[in-house]
Amino acid sequence: MSDAARFYLTTPIYYVNDEPHIGHVFTTTVADAIARARRLAGDEVFFLTGTDEHAAKVVDSAAERGLTPQQWSDRNAQAFRAAFGEFGIQTDDFIRTSEERHKRFVREAIAALVRSGDVYLGDYEGWYDASQEEYVSEARAEEHGFLSPVTGKPLVRKQEQNYFFRLSAYQARLQQLFEQQPDFVLPSARRNEVLGRLEAGLLDVPISRRGAGDWGVRFPGAEDHLIYVWIDALLSYTTVCAPAERRRFWPAQTHLIAKDILWFHAVIWPALLLALRATPDFAWLALPGGIYAHSFWIRDGQKMSKSLGNFLGLAQLRELVAVFGLDALRWFLITQGPLATVDSDFSHARFADVYNAELANTLGNAWNRVSNMTARYLGGRLPRVCARGELRERALAILARDAEDGPLGVGRAARGLELVRAIDAHIDATAPFRLAKDPANAERVAEILYECAETYRLASLLLWPALPAKMEEVWRRLGCREYLEALAGRGRGRFREWSRWGGLQAGSEIAAGGALFPRYQPADASGAAAAAGGGPA
Ligand code: MSP
Repeated sequence: MSDAARFYLTTPIYYVNDEPHIGHVFTTTVADAIARARRLAGDEVFFLTGTDEHAAKVVDSAAERGLTPQQWSDRNAQAFRAAFGEFGIQTDDFIRTSEERHKRFVREAIAALVRSGDVYLGDYEGWYDASQEEYVSEARAEEHGFLSPVTGKPLVRKQEQNYFFRLSAYQARLQQLFEQQPDFVLPSARRNEVLGRLEAGLLDVPISRRGAGDWGVRFPGAEDHLIYVWIDALLSYTTVCAPAERRRFWPAQTHLIAKDILWFHAVIWPALLLALRATPDFAWLALPGGIYAHSFWIRDGQKMSKSLGNFLGLAQLRELVAVFGLDALRWFLITQGPLATVDSDFSHARFADVYNAELANTLGNAWNRVSNMTARYLGGRLPRVCARGELRERALAILARDAEDGPLGVGRAARGLELVRAIDAHIDATAPFRLAKDPANAERVAEILYECAETYRLASLLLWPALPAKMEEVWRRLGCREYLEALAGRGRGRFREWSRWGGLQAGSEIAAGGALFPRYQPADASGAAAAAGGGPA
């Protein structure tokens, strides 16, 4: 495969002080769709998520429940892992920062930086944002009225002896990185924010805490210090690539995150990698391809929180899955989520509207029309390949517009939908259901239905990353066993080859099957949550 590449993608590793919610499921679902698209294209993909366990808030929330941090982390790490499995996410590894492999890697990395002089002992006096586990400069603390710039909670004054990372030494190289690689941070408005802060100057950052208990990674050579949780967490991206058989995946192509943790990823992380790279044992640590920082899901214009009662946790997500199906949740998150710089307001009404308009009425209905007419007029078999035609031209034009999919490639879902809309328009324009009344038109009807079925097949390839279960069902109905077999068990596909016109052979059989996406009718209107619907033509 000439265009196959290696592709390493990460999500943030999530704090285990609480159970997963829509934000975590969102980032990880989007990452899953990106990973699937790459696998379908034939790339060798490595997709990582995991949990960040050494935060002070994990210690506090464990104590509130009378548990040790380890017990509480075990429980919540398992909750994250299980939730991601439940939402159809297929990662290649799941890192927990309390694992031995990770702690060992972090200690070795920090020891190397002590030796190289990029980490040194000093005194800190300044502000700490406990809600974000983040040190805040004097100027920034003042600018935000001594409240957390992210959560608005009061900052804490700290005076401690810490080990520091020589971040200030990397200012020029970071600025150069941002100039030479303008897509290092995306979207570009986020890049500009980081550049603005970068230009204000960089201070060295404390990376250890003394007398902070024993939940964390001990500082090598100063065992009464714990390594700052953010340094510990960022290094998880490299821990998993340390074994010889994994090295080939580093550097990560993309770190997918949200705007709340951009500074760590865009500034501290590359500086740390540059410092490590200069040491003999970590010379393999090249810089990642880039950071993509999306925005937030909010409710009624406000941040979600349990106390406001507008929180979307696992229970609410499960309810949506029970009513609409898992692929519908994925679809909504991926196509309606806050991927750009604007927050997205979550509303149930909008979820139901998008479901009915795009999934039931467009994808579901077009399938019904094509498969039912094929059954009725052609006995369920496509007699011949139609190698040219208007719909073919239109479909190939839409397929060619992959540059529109955006830096994450997520826009392919919209192009898949557009392909299916083109099928509907073609059926309306050519009216095979009318032509079929006259046997003299048999050939024309067969041609039209071939073009429609073949275009649906092409659409399914664009839609699979977002709607894996439903598109696999379509492949079963279309007899595309090859795709199912190739992609099973995290296998790789051959998108280039499969997305050529003519994949459906003459004589292909199409199984109509039940409704792919039953139309949703609100319970108060029908007495049932979802009702099967959608006739042919
Ligand atoms: N543990 C750190 C990350 C360390 S990465 C080396 C952390 N954890 S977190 O549990 O707070 O997760 C933050 C991430 O969760 C965000 O960057 C984003 O990916 C996701 N989201 C959390 N809330 C969100 C929304 N309301 N909306 C969208 N995504 C959000 O920070």
